[in-house]
Amino acid sequence: MNVLVVGSGGREHAIAWKISQSNRSKNVYVASGNAGTAVDAQNIEIASDDIPSLIEFAKKNQIGLSVIGPEIPLCEGIVDAFEAEGLKVFGPSKSAARLEGSKVFCKNVLRSADVPTADFHEFKDASIAERFINERYSETPNDVPLVVKADGLAAGKGAIVCGTRDEALEAIDIIARQRQFGNAGDRMIIEDRMQGIEASILAITDGKTILTLPPAEDHKRAHDGDAGPNTGGMGAYCPTPSIDEKTLRWVESSVLVPTVHVMKRQRNPFRGILYAGMMLTPQGPKVLEYNVRFGDPECQPLLMRLKTDFLDLLEATVDRRLSEIGPLEWDERPSVCVVMASEGYPGKYEKGRLIRGLDEASKLEDVKVFHAGTKLDSDGNSVTNGGRVLGVTALGETVAAAKLQAYKAVKCIRWDGAWCRKDIADKAITMEI
Ligand code: GLY
Repeated sequence: MNVLVVGSGGREHAIAWKISQSNRSKNVYVASGNAGTAVDAQNIEIASDDIPSLIEFAKKNQIGLSVIGPEIPLCEGIVDAFEAEGLKVFGPSKSAARLEGSKVFCKNVLRSADVPTADFHEFKDASIAERFINERYSETPNDVPLVVKADGLAAGKGAIVCGTRDEALEAIDIIARQRQFGNAGDRMIIEDRMQGIEASILAITDGKTILTLPPAEDHKRAHDGDAGPNTGGMGAYCPTPSIDEKTLRWVESSVLVPTVHVMKRQRNPFRGILYAGMMLTPQGPKVLEYNVRFGDPECQPLLMRLKTDFLDLLEATVDRRLSEIGPLEWDERPSVCVVMASEGYPGKYEKGRLIRGLDEASKLEDVKVFHAGTKLDSDGNSVTNGGRVLGVTALGETVAAAKLQAYKAVKCIRWDGAWCRKDIADKAITMEI
């Protein structure tokens, strides 16, 4: 079968790499891909939001299945458009993708499903939101544990964590008056800030059957010790011991199942990857947010461990016969993914730096270097083309061994200004000892 993967990050490299391992896959195309997918698959020069051109390509090239990586085309309705043309496609419909595309929609589904989440209020008007803050916190202006969130997609920057009344008022200003996130700020929610450990729990569902995947942990802050600004994710590992089997089953039965059922009841079935961003609070696990696609970089260590044929799994989901797929098989060994980034990321950075040492790193046992922000230059060399450049991923008998192997591979790779966090998976290693 010919397969089209839409997207160009580390997640899409991992998806294309895993699909190409299936005996049933023939040509695997990636739109528009990166230097890594150029090796493990075939890149095509169509942007991930150019839906008409993607449909035309899929028809011309007998694509049997398309897999959509990022949230933007999903929220723009790429799945509906492909299905309208009779093309098989993996991912939720535009309406179901609102679980990620609209915070207000997501909160209302959580409320209907009786799923634990932070209390929230919805606002359209900045002055009403400001009045709410001023009245509620008039006595305690320095103790305002809130998060102000733009309703729509804002490239991961639309949730502003606040500690004081001034910070909350500034967040409202940024979203609703300065409109830094554009139309995403047409509505906003203000919710109570939760404290605890974050964990990502992903499941694959055809709208009826739900298969929960092993939990992973992302490292969102730029610097060691979870310091510095937020990023798209500086590394991840799987499984994370902070979610034990009992908690995982609880999240499955009290979070994922009721959410999928409410969506079905509302005649808005969810099919694809349901990614619950959880906060493990002292009062129990609560949902921070839903995403409607694989996490990046969580996808890389996750798929590194998957043994079940990935193409079979994706196709069964699209065909609504996920119940026929037996329990998923996983490599028992944990995996660790270390993101190597460009100098300056998550702020401004330069592109086009020559990357050396990729072959040396790839020769190491149980290592896979997933490309994210890379491209091939005119001489066929891999050069940097983004902030997060590579996801260097390794398996090991223990998390500590996987970490050691991943960093051994990192040491082989160099370019001007390359850097990474040094403490990926340390939390799990402390729990392992
Ligand atoms: N790693 C976080 C995300 O994919 O949204």
